[in-house]
Formats: sequence, C-alpha cells, structure tokens
Amino acid sequence: MARTPMILHLLLVTLFILSSKTASSSASSDVDAFLGCLSAAIPPSLIKTPATNSYSELLMSSVRNLRYVLPGTTRPFVIVAATEPAHVQTTVVCGRRHSVRIRTRSGGHDYEGLSYASVDPHEHFAVLDLGELRAIHIDASRAEAWVGSGATLGELYYAAAAANQTFGFPAGNCPTVGVGGHLSGGGFGALSRKYGLSADNVLDAVVVDAEGRLLNRSTMGKDLFWAIRGGGGESFGVVLSWKVRLVAVPETVTVFSIRRSRNQSAVDLITKWQAIAPALPRDLYLRVLVQNQQAAFVALFLGRCDRLVDTMRAHFPDLGMAERDCQEMSWVKSTVFFFFNTANIPNEVLLNRSNADYFLKVKSDHVQEPMPRQAWESLWSKWLEKPEAALVMLDPYGGVMGSISPSATPFPHRNYLYQLQFFSFWFENGTAALEKRMSWVRGVYEDLTPYVSKNPRAVYVNYRDLDLGTNELEGGVTSYAKARVWGEKYFKGNFKRLAAVKSKVDPFDFFRNEQSIPPLPAKKW
Ligand SMILES: Cc1cc2nc3c(=O)[nH]c(=O)nc-3n(C[C@H](O)[C@H](O)[C@H](O)COP(=O)(O)OP(=O)(O)OC[C@H]3O[C@@H](n4cnc5c(N)ncnc54)[C@H](O)[C@@H]3O)c2cc1C
Ligand SMILES: *[C@@H]1O[C@H](CO)[C@@H](O)[C@H](O)[C@H]1NC(C)=O
Ligand SMILES: *[C@@H]1O[C@H](CO)[C@@H](O)[C@H](O)[C@H]1NC(C)=O
Ligand SMILES: *[C@@H]1O[C@H](CO)[C@@H](O)[C@H](O)[C@H]1NC(C)=O
Ligand SMILES: *[C@@H]1O[C@H](CO)[C@@H](O)[C@H](O)[C@H]1NC(C)=O
Ligand SMILES: *[C@@H]1O[C@H](CO)[C@@H](O)[C@H](O)[C@H]1NC(C)=O
Repeated sequence: MARTPMILHLLLVTLFILSSKTASSSASSDVDAFLGCLSAAIPPSLIKTPATNSYSELLMSSVRNLRYVLPGTTRPFVIVAATEPAHVQTTVVCGRRHSVRIRTRSGGHDYEGLSYASVDPHEHFAVLDLGELRAIHIDASRAEAWVGSGATLGELYYAAAAANQTFGFPAGNCPTVGVGGHLSGGGFGALSRKYGLSADNVLDAVVVDAEGRLLNRSTMGKDLFWAIRGGGGESFGVVLSWKVRLVAVPETVTVFSIRRSRNQSAVDLITKWQAIAPALPRDLYLRVLVQNQQAAFVALFLGRCDRLVDTMRAHFPDLGMAERDCQEMSWVKSTVFFFFNTANIPNEVLLNRSNADYFLKVKSDHVQEPMPRQAWESLWSKWLEKPEAALVMLDPYGGVMGSISPSATPFPHRNYLYQLQFFSFWFENGTAALEKRMSWVRGVYEDLTPYVSKNPRAVYVNYRDLDLGTNELEGGVTSYAKARVWGEKYFKGNFKRLAAVKSKVDPFDFFRNEQSIPPLPAKKW
C-alpha cells in the first residue's frame, strides 16, 4: 500500500521536471519580490494585478486572438502599463533580479498571442504593455519620424499624411497592428514593392537591453541594430521607439477592387496573376483575396486612373480593368480603403485602436514558381468551397523586395514571386468550430507542399505559427539545435547570425518565448 504514493510522488516529480524543461517556465521566480521591486520605482496605478479593477480591461484591450484567452491559457500575473522609458528599464532590471520573464506587448496582434499569453500552465510572467508609449514626432523638413512602439500603423499613417499629403510609410494593411511588433518582424504592405519592408526604412531606434540600459543606433552596435529590424519581437530587448524614413507618395493615388467568381474565370486569372503581379511596375501593387468563393483583385497605384488603365491593359488585359473601376483618392484614404473595403468613411477611423475580436489561426507560405492551373482548380474544389474556408491572401513581391539583399536585414525571403496566407478567423466559441477551422488551415498547408517553397519551407516571422516548432531548454538556455527547426524557416541563413547577436546582447537568455532566438552555443572543442 505504501508504494503507491511513492510512485505517484516520483511521477509528479518527473512531470514537474519535464514541464519545467519548456523554454518559458521560470520555476525559481520570486513573484512577490518582483512586485516589490517594481513598486519602488513605478506608480502603483500602472501596476495591474488580477486583483486590480482594470486588469481585465487592459489585458483584453489589445488581445487579437481569442484562442489565447480561452481557459487553459496562462495569463500574466501582472501587467505593467509603462508610460516612461524608465518604467521599462525598471521592469527589465526587476525581472532579471527576481527571475521573472517579461512578454512585451505593443499592438497585441501576434498570431499566436505570444505578447500576452502562454500555453504553459507553470509559467509566471509579466506583460510589459507599451500602448501608452505611442508618441509620433514628424520632422517634415527631413521626411522622417520618431514613432513610439505603442503607436498603431493607422496612427502613423494618419500623422504622416497630416504633416504632408505626400508622405507615406510602407507597412501592413491592418491599421490596429502595433508598430513595435510589426517593425521588429519586418512589416509588409501595399508600398513594399516600391519601398521595401517597414524594417528597410528604419533609421534609428531606442532599445532597453537585458541590462536595463537605454541604447540607440550609435550605442547599440551594428549587429543589434541589424537584428531588431526583422529578427522578430521579444528576443533582443524592448524597442521603445523607432526613427523611420517617410516615403514619397503622390497627392492622388488610384485603387480598384475587381471581383470574379469561379464561373467568371477566377481560376484562370489567379493562375496568370502569379507571374504577372510580381513583374508589374513598382508603382502598382495588385493582391488577390479569395473569400466566399470569389477572388477580389485589389490594387493600389501610385498615380492617376488614366495611367493605371494603360498599365493594366499592357500587363494584364484578361482582368478587363477599365476606367469605371478606378477610385482616385489620397494615399492615406487608400489605407482606409484597403482595410475597410470602402473609402466612404472618415480617415479618423485609422485612430480607432480597438477592433473586432475573433478566434484566429494563420498559416502562410512563399511561392517561387507559378502553381499550375490544375493545382488551383483542385484547391478551389477541395478547399475553397467549404464553409469553414479561410480568407486566402496572395501578396506579390518583386520590385524593390527582390533587389534588396537577403542578408541586409534578418528577413531573407526576397526572391519569391509572392506570399500566400490562409487567414482563418471565426466568432463561434466552441471546440467544434475551433477544430474545424484549425484542420482546414493545416490541411491546405499539407496539400500545397509540392507547389510552395522548399528546403526550407519559407515563412515570414510576423506570420507567427507555433506549428513550426517551439523552443526547449538545454543547460538553462534555449536550445539552438531545437530552435533551428522553426528558425531556418523564418530566417534561412540569417538564423545563425541572429543567434550570434543574441549570445552577445542577452547571453543568459532573459528575453525568451516559445519562438525567441536562442544564443549560439559556444564552439565545442
Ligand atoms: C489582423 C492582422 C493583420 C495583419 N496584417 C499584416 C500586414 O498587412 N503585413 C504584415 O507584415 N503583418 C501583418 N500582420 C502581422 C503583424 O505584423 C504581426 O503580428 C506583428 O508582430 C504585430 O505587432 P504588434 O505590436 O501588434 O504585436 P504584439 O503581439 O504586441 O507583438 C508581437 C511580438 O513582438 C514582441 N514585441 C512587441 N512589441 C515589442 C517591442 N516594442 N520590442 C520588442 N519586442 C516587441 C512581442 O513580445 C511579440 O513576441 C497582421 C496581423 C493581424 C492580426
Ligand atoms: C509637402 O512635400 C512636398 C514634396 O515633398 C513639398 O513640395 C511641399 O511643399 C510640402 N507641403 C507642405 C504643406 O509642406
Ligand atoms: C544616442 O545616445 C547617445 C548617448 O546617450 C547620445 O549622445 C546621442 O546623441 C544619441 N543619438 C541620437 C541620434 O539620438
Ligand atoms: C456565377 O456564379 C455566381 C455566384 O457564384 C452566380 O451568382 C452567377 O449567377 C453565376 N453566373 C453564371 C453566368 O453562371
Ligand atoms: C472602433 O472600433 C470598434 C471595433 O470595430 C467599434 O466597435 C467602435 O465603434 C469603433 N469606435 C469608433 C469611435 O468608431
Ligand atoms: C468561451 O467559452 C469558455 C468555456 O465555456 C468560456 O470560459 C470563455 O469565457 C469563452 N470565451 C469567449 C471569448 O467567449
């Protein structure tokens, strides 16, 4: 009889050891001492524990994936709502001292909720929320801006255009995405064929490192400055603000959205689009969105309607685009159009920081050779007609994307025709809906294997996907060998250099999450 508890005890100990092998747990963290350390330097009103009234409101304020607030996901035991750089420095220093991990959150749009949740029930972590650090200062005479990480893309677009209608910024299509995470991972959008990623247009940054120091471009060293421009959020420190180059856009741009169903040759058009869109002039961005069994061809042209019609006739006559499809507007209005699918709402909608919550799962790919028509036919009949089909987005590269060196920044995927996203979002809260959607996205991904990038299958780090693998510990730090499995999909040959930078700036691996960059192990003798 006495042996059963002993075996149980051993089992529990084993389970504990196994579970504490995951990269994110912090068995020896001292939560109370950490909170005491914080409150010595940060006003109590900015330290929100679950006992505080506003904890839930703040937590939920920028949660974009409800999958990561379902029962079973672990919430932070405290959220620090930083309003000054010193609050961030204090949080890092206290975290180091008392072994408490920090998840930094800017806009909360991480596809896998890494900025506010953990799937490890043993993890005690703090969220460092940068939502209040969102000042934007435009230097119109130099066409540059300093922007706080907590600003949204919509706020940046609005402020740039308010300073001068000919200022734009290359970044994503969703206005509530946070500058902090977006620039950390790259930042792709409608201006990227002409001007590259957001990260390609970063001139300087202010970072709090693992020692709690405040660094800028001239003090952080060129390796760290390289790593933070596309190496993905969290791994290297907390970026407080970014100095960016604003880019030139005409006072009037033109957009269109042309829908075609399968019986109107959508499959033919997509097949042709694959080679045409990446080769279009840089002033023209033409993406495809497939939803509800229709393909929408959506364009931004940096010029007027007449020239757009000529360009489309010359390059893609089969789409039948004509003057009646044109809508001319300011560039900032086009950012409204791209997200809300209408230009008939005021630009101030870009300043609305809240957005609809849903459950989300995304998988993404890169395509190097046009997929054969047959592959699109079967994708359409087997997958796209299902009620649980995801929104499928095809975004062309080419232009400047293809002329920047793959090692200029950590983002290596410069030479593909286009990226492909299966963006599944749903509103029903239940296991059946969840499983249906998840298996749709995973099934498509599996089926497309013969047609997409290989060795490695290339994925953009801002389209975070934990299916690719998650970190494990080895000797107290994240295992490099294990991390390569997902890391080379995101970064190819740049992964090793990222790990080398990590060894230099955060050798103890303080800034860590399920897919943070591991330190490069010292050379074995
Ligand atoms: C609806 C939607 C649309 C999107 N559209 C696009 C698009 O058009 N183009 C595109 O390229 N991407 C797009 N994305 C992806 C988006 O770029 C990434 O999710 C990005 O990382 C989000 O940044 P964030 O600050 O909102 O996220 P967060 O969840 O706050 O952060 C993302 C990651 O970065 C870390 N992090 C956040 N802030 C900092 C900081 N200041 N310093 C260091 N680390 C930090 C976090 O810990 C987390 O690991 C979209 C995402 C969504 C949900
Ligand atoms: C806006 O920028 C353009 C060109 O960059 C410049 O010619 C113009 O004077 C600026 N307008 C204002 C109002 O500053
Ligand atoms: C960077 O920081 C150093 C040291 O704090 C400071 O002297 C310098 O002016 C800063 N550079 C910029 C561009 O702000
Ligand atoms: C094509 O399909 C759409 C919807 O899928 C339908 O409304 C339309 O009637 C069809 N047109 C033809 C010509 O079959
Ligand atoms: C902001 O967006 C949210 C979510 O879409 C919406 O419910 C709310 O009404 C919007 N607020 C304003 C002021 O437009
Ligand atoms: C979903 O359902 C679970 C279990 O019934 C509940 O605890 C949770 O609050 C719900 N979440 C949302 C976002 O509705």
